[in-house]
Amino acid sequence: MRELDIDKISNFTEKQERAEKLVYDFKYLLYGGAMAGGKSYWLRWMLVKLLVYWAINGVKHPTVALFCEDFPSLKDRHISRIKHEFPPELGVYNATDHNFTLKARWGGGTIAFRNLDDASKYQSSEFAAIAVDELTKNDRNTFDFLRTRLRWKGIKHPKFIAATNPGGKGSQWVKQMWLDRIYDPNEKEQDQFMYVAAKASDNPYITGDYMRTLESMPEVLRRAFLEGDWDVFQGQYFKEWRREYHVIVPRMPMRHHKKYIAIDYGYAAPSCALWFYVDEFGRVIVYRELYRTGMTYREFAKEISAMTPADEEIQYWVADPAIWATKGENDQQLSGADIMASEYQLIRKKMVIMIKGDNRRVPGWTVMREYLALTMINGTLSPRLLICETCPNLIRTLPALIYDTKNVEDVDSDGEDHAPDALRYGLMSRPQASVAIATTVGDKVNRLLGNPPRSGGFQGYTPEDRRKDALR
Ligand SMILES: Nc1ncnc2c1ncn2[C@@H]1O[C@H](COP(=O)(O)OP(=O)(O)OP(=O)(O)O)[C@@H](O)[C@H]1O
Ligand SMILES: [Mg+2]
Repeated sequence: MRELDIDKISNFTEKQERAEKLVYDFKYLLYGGAMAGGKSYWLRWMLVKLLVYWAINGVKHPTVALFCEDFPSLKDRHISRIKHEFPPELGVYNATDHNFTLKARWGGGTIAFRNLDDASKYQSSEFAAIAVDELTKNDRNTFDFLRTRLRWKGIKHPKFIAATNPGGKGSQWVKQMWLDRIYDPNEKEQDQFMYVAAKASDNPYITGDYMRTLESMPEVLRRAFLEGDWDVFQGQYFKEWRREYHVIVPRMPMRHHKKYIAIDYGYAAPSCALWFYVDEFGRVIVYRELYRTGMTYREFAKEISAMTPADEEIQYWVADPAIWATKGENDQQLSGADIMASEYQLIRKKMVIMIKGDNRRVPGWTVMREYLALTMINGTLSPRLLICETCPNLIRTLPALIYDTKNVEDVDSDGEDHAPDALRYGLMSRPQASVAIATTVGDKVNRLLGNPPRSGGFQGYTPEDRRKDALR
């Protein structure tokens, strides 16, 4: 049998070697930053090296795991690669259980290739090391759960290693822990976190052609993917958000106010209903919220009815058009929208007008941005959208929206966006109002406040503006 030299066959670049050395000193190492820096390659080889290291130190047959967010990603990024990269003398891959087991002379350890579509299935598993590729595709809870799975008899220092590009729903918490080093007060392992910054230029194995592609990206993406800059995606999508202006003490509608309800339905994810009215100045006030998981269409409609006082006249409901396409569980022929409408009518003995929401995302966010921008209304600086304190989930999730890394015009839909989606349907059901708000006074005020410029009606905020906005 050919003698294997693990250091030689892993063939680490200088940066990868640096990351490797730090793994032995720190428990939580993140290799993050630019695209194609060699992060995924390093992750799988680092697991091999850890297994060999533990074997040399007398620990036989430990199991380590390499996780991706889902199985197709795991296959594309790793399983398809190891067939060519890992020599047969090193070990054997079993396609049934997705384990690569090292030959006995390398300690017989196992690399388990696993996905994180439901982390709780690893409830009773234990691993000597855990590697997560594209860590920011996961939320903080997944990381905290995986930490609890790090233990192996005979191994004093289990390891968590991860690789990632900036961006994604987990960008914020990952940046906070590994780059900004901001921890919860009860965090006992702060000194165990280490970050290694990857640059595309670290990797001699990528072609000039690929580098030119990265260099040709729009500025936001170029900074994130070529230079590994974390800040570009950190900012809020709605920088216009100012809690002191947008959140108000409850101001309930009066009889003459036009009222309507907007809905984003989910079962496993939360369903959200928001109640709106339009005040004398054309401002939209969101005054009530229902936000809950696990409700059927019927239960959701029942709850909306229960929360709407008997004398409150609602003009219409506007909802995600998807619920016209889905069927309820027991009502074979009825769509989700039909079920909700019929349930409400049954309880209230009143017809409900249900409107299919306009679900074009980017135009919807643009309208929302216009409503959020401060402008002069009746001699006072005010946004066109006010949210009552009685809507905590909308208030919590709207300012937390971040940019989508794949489409810088859009919100990252991996974030918690159910209440903002409902808000978007609500505002889009009356978008004509936003055309009227592009006043010169409003523009001046916004400039003074550092808000993005608006060059016309709601169409005036161009993609270029948005790119610049993302860099602020
Ligand atoms: N030390 C190495 N020896 C040989 N090839 C390498 C080495 N490091 C990386 N590569 C190759 O370079 C390419 C990019 O590496 P890899 O996919 O690991 O980068 P990445 O940083 O994970 O990229 P992305 O940001 O797109 O996820 C791959 O084809 C990989 O096999
Ligand atoms: Mg990768």
